[in-house]
Amino acid sequence: MTDFLGSHILSVKQFDRDAVERIFEVAHRMAPYAQRQKRTKVLDGAILGNLFFEPSTRTRVSFGCAFNLLGGQVRGTTGMQMSALAKGESLYDTGRMISSYSDVIAMRHPESGSVAEFATGSRVPVINGGDGANEHPTQALLDLFTIQKELAVYDRSIDGMHIAMVGDLKYGRTVHSLSKLLCLYRDLKVTLVAPDELSMPKEIVDLLTDHHAQIEIKNKIDGQIGADIVYQTRIQEERFPTQEEADRYRGQFRLNHEIFSTHFKSNTVIMHPLPRDSRSEANELDNDLNEHPNLAIFRQADNGVLIRMALFAMTLGVENKVADYEYDVPWYSQK
Ligand code: NCD
Repeated sequence: MTDFLGSHILSVKQFDRDAVERIFEVAHRMAPYAQRQKRTKVLDGAILGNLFFEPSTRTRVSFGCAFNLLGGQVRGTTGMQMSALAKGESLYDTGRMISSYSDVIAMRHPESGSVAEFATGSRVPVINGGDGANEHPTQALLDLFTIQKELAVYDRSIDGMHIAMVGDLKYGRTVHSLSKLLCLYRDLKVTLVAPDELSMPKEIVDLLTDHHAQIEIKNKIDGQIGADIVYQTRIQEERFPTQEEADRYRGQFRLNHEIFSTHFKSNTVIMHPLPRDSRSEANELDNDLNEHPNLAIFRQADNGVLIRMALFAMTLGVENKVADYEYDVPWYSQK
């Protein structure tokens, strides 16, 4: 059984199915606070060190908001150049120092394994907000939570579902973490759509196969894909050796209204970890799907706050005390 109290969250590999279900149960209980129906001071006085050494909007801000919604304070830094890492400080030393100012730390860094290295110096729990092309565990949890909620509308569950992952499956850490989590579920069909050069790493395909997922590999969106979920991704241009190489794949995996209607089902749920690249030459998820009821991308991002609140509450041991510190919301809220 996974113990959350005081633990780092570095990889989805540390979770079993029971742990995932416990996180989801706590996340559901966070909804009234995220929706501003109630407030809680359960983490009053606690400090989150929110360290983002790579670009981020959603993940960084939602980690911060999640902590604020539990009553805690946030201290953060962004960008390598503005931190002492630019002066040659080791990740270990940075971890050691920041942990003395914080009760918990969220961190993103461009190198695989960097967050785990940082955590060796930390005296408080460290949550991986994305380490290079390696992992993004909180994103995978919010993706899976979204899948569960969206499929429940059609009386379906994660067991037995068919998911299609599309785009840059080589450098996309979200699909790496999500695939590992999917190994906890039964009777899955996984369609991987990517150019050969950007295909899913072999060890992850092997892992899915070892867990009896039925794998289908395609190098473009063609034929009747069907699928309960289509998970579109951005070409991770910042991880390519050269920009020219990244540009080669731009616009190749476009999902628009017409392509969606041709290759997917009328109830296929459309997901994307965001940000989507909306520049005309990329446009992997077209604006003409913005009003489509199956487009779950903003619900998916909203779920990130619930998952991150749950993880903070569980690593700090207050998941059953949130309501004890509850108080009213005096302002008019449209949430
Ligand atoms: C993703 C990431 O940073 O890995 N974004 C996110 O955290 N929601 C996906 C991406 O940048 O394409």
